[in-house]
Amino acid sequence: MSEKQIRILAIESSCDETAAAVVENGRCIKSNIISTQIPDHALYGGVVPEIASRKHIERIDNVIEMALTEAGVKLGELDAIACTYGPGLVGALLVGVAEAKALSWAAGLPLVGVHHIEGHIAANYIEDPSLEPPFLCLVVSGGHTHLVRVIDYGKYEILGRTVDDAAGEAFDKVARAIGLGYPGGPLVEKAAKSGDASAVSFPRAKVEGSPYDFSFSGLKSAVLNYINGLKMKEQEVNPNDIAASFQEAVVGVLCDHAAMAMEEFGAKDFALAGGVASNSALRSAVQELCVQKGVRFHCPSPILCTDNAAMIGAAGYYEYIAGRRDKWDLNAVPGLALGERV
Ligand code: KG4
Ligand code: ZN
Repeated sequence: MSEKQIRILAIESSCDETAAAVVENGRCIKSNIISTQIPDHALYGGVVPEIASRKHIERIDNVIEMALTEAGVKLGELDAIACTYGPGLVGALLVGVAEAKALSWAAGLPLVGVHHIEGHIAANYIEDPSLEPPFLCLVVSGGHTHLVRVIDYGKYEILGRTVDDAAGEAFDKVARAIGLGYPGGPLVEKAAKSGDASAVSFPRAKVEGSPYDFSFSGLKSAVLNYINGLKMKEQEVNPNDIAASFQEAVVGVLCDHAAMAMEEFGAKDFALAGGVASNSALRSAVQELCVQKGVRFHCPSPILCTDNAAMIGAAGYYEYIAGRRDKWDLNAVPGLALGERV
């Protein structure tokens, strides 16, 4: 007899993407619908929490319906409903959590709350169905920069994290400073392709006493100071060179930390995750590092790096088979820590 297929409807609404997906056995995407709010926030140069919540409410029903239709399943045929319950914007998270609770009550399906960063890490399980813990993972997104030892499914040790700005946040702030739009990451990457990465030597900060921690606010300030210095001297600012030099500094720091962890823990597998992992300079630098160290390199395709619900379905599956079940009191937890159960 064939093994039972576990199909999960996953919902993600922690920031500015309204997303729903149907994922089978944590590894196989049946549908993956993402409605991005980027145009709604671009006017303001960043995510406006109030607008994000309202847009999630307007779109979530349609997005879920599209995910079910594309997967060719009815709600009642599913095994569980998973939703992101933290970390993120509280008003945005609440929309997905309330929707997941309503659907799970109406259809009599188990409810599974998922940690957003666990989702980002789990995107690697979809990309490479043979990947299993233990492995090292560098999570680089708009809100987080974590170097993590994935010990087992749902079991993590955080080796390092940012003490100030996240890597994606630094990309967004530098993009603003050099006159690019929002979100900054992809625009900085594009500008960097036409720039000279050795044009400016930006600092690569170390955190005293915490070799795995990151600090990006000094780098961001260095970029701003550099631009102001040029302006004061009435010299021309070359945004492409700044973008390339900044990106080089970020990628350099991330690679240094990754290399240190690979050596210390004798890693066999190293994975990237999060929105910044869609940056091709970072992907190729870490891939090259893995080749040098004889470590297998993993990275989700760009659409699974930025926020999506398929990754929540993958993480939700491992929570589901481990027996996690949430009740009607599941709440949004904006500051939820990785590995924490609330
Ligand atoms: O993972 P994500 O979609 O949302 C969070 O959980 O934060 O990450 C969004 C972040 C933004 O800061 C965005 O600028 C950055 O990822 N990002 C990039 C690229 N694409 C997105 N950063 C650098 N290069 C990219 N190609
Ligand atoms: Zn994210």
